[in-house]
Amino acid sequence: MVNVLVTGGAGFIGSNFVRYAIDTHTDWLVTTLDKLTYAGRRENLHDLLEHPRHRFVQGDITDAVVTTKLVHEAEIIVHFAAETHVDRSLQNAGEFIQTDVHGTFVLLDAAREAPQLRRFVQISTDEVYGSISDGTSKETDELRPRNPYSASKAGADRLAYSYWATYGVPTIITRASNNYGAFQYPEKIIPLFITNALENEPLPLYGDGENVRDWLHVLDHCRGIDLLIEKGCDGEVYNIGGSNEVKNVDLTRQVLNLLERPESLITHVADRPGHDRRYSLDTSKLRALGWSPQMDFQVGLKETVAWYKENEWWWHSIKHDSTEFQAYYDKQYAKNP
Ligand code: NAD
Ligand code: DAU
Repeated sequence: MVNVLVTGGAGFIGSNFVRYAIDTHTDWLVTTLDKLTYAGRRENLHDLLEHPRHRFVQGDITDAVVTTKLVHEAEIIVHFAAETHVDRSLQNAGEFIQTDVHGTFVLLDAAREAPQLRRFVQISTDEVYGSISDGTSKETDELRPRNPYSASKAGADRLAYSYWATYGVPTIITRASNNYGAFQYPEKIIPLFITNALENEPLPLYGDGENVRDWLHVLDHCRGIDLLIEKGCDGEVYNIGGSNEVKNVDLTRQVLNLLERPESLITHVADRPGHDRRYSLDTSKLRALGWSPQMDFQVGLKETVAWYKENEWWWHSIKHDSTEFQAYYDKQYAKNP
């Protein structure tokens, strides 16, 4: 059996990856290490908590004791754990530095003394390239992160590289574009707008709504990571993008159409400070290994809307029973009644 450690496996992409991995690799024993912050939820793994090939460990990646023990057991590490929401990083960046930078250092440092380890996947992001007005970002491009979240991810991205270059830790670095799908915390645009629309609440579109994101279905992201575990080269960076650029305003209209809700729900609100205008990835390096996105965006968005419609049990309690979410929402959108 292959011991696989997934950090942040109770979050959105992590939980999708754990489910995908358990289903796809019957010889994998998967350990999820997750602190269960506001964004990490046992419910995301509800069908896997008792699975014989899955173990859940609640713990903080910055805790060297718990982290080192698990790193020293693993053959493969997929490191998703992070603070991930740009708007929260603008309110308070401290946790981002602590988890995204220091937590990654703790994992990598433990990996120096882990001879059984054959793959350490650092999950980075297209945001490390910063905003680009035209063309696409290649893996060799300069990093120009422009907000505390993306700066912390860029730090972790280069730390992972440095541990390969200096100590030979078998890292690969993936930089993915915006993911969408089931189990995404409803602070991010797609689940926030779907659930607000379902409740006939306003959809707060930042600025002019012309910002562009490249949407990637979460399962296409999981397939890309899986392929790279097998075929990636140590010390290399790989972009994983949907090649599917959509303006926020068009995305918002599509969500409303799918739910048969009126466009009058769109509320233009104050822009995000330092709002990156556009991200776009050149994915030829990963495509050359045999990957391409399988999910058509229209189909994926329709399925995602249906998932949130059918799984109100999952998001309703986050939005309405948790003071944490309400406090965040009120603070974030307060100046925009
Ligand atoms: P998420 O916020 O849904 O999940 C993050 C998970 O990390 C949560 O389960 C949380 O409890 C856990 N976590 C946070 N701090 C921790 C700590 N100190 N110790 C242990 N666990 C901790 O995030 P996501 O959207 O699933 O993103 C996962 C990864 O993918 C992140 O590294 C993110 O930067 C990266 N990424 C995300 C996207 C996207 O569109 N969502 C795109 C590219 C890259
Ligand atoms: O590009 C990859 C990144 O995508 C990941 O690294 C991040 O972890 C992930 O959160 C995501 O970052 P974004 O900032 O792009 O995602 P978010 O859903 O917050 O915003 C997407 C776009 O929608 C962005 O242009 C801001 C806009 N937006 C967002 C919210 C929450 C709005 O217009 N209104 C909103 O209320």
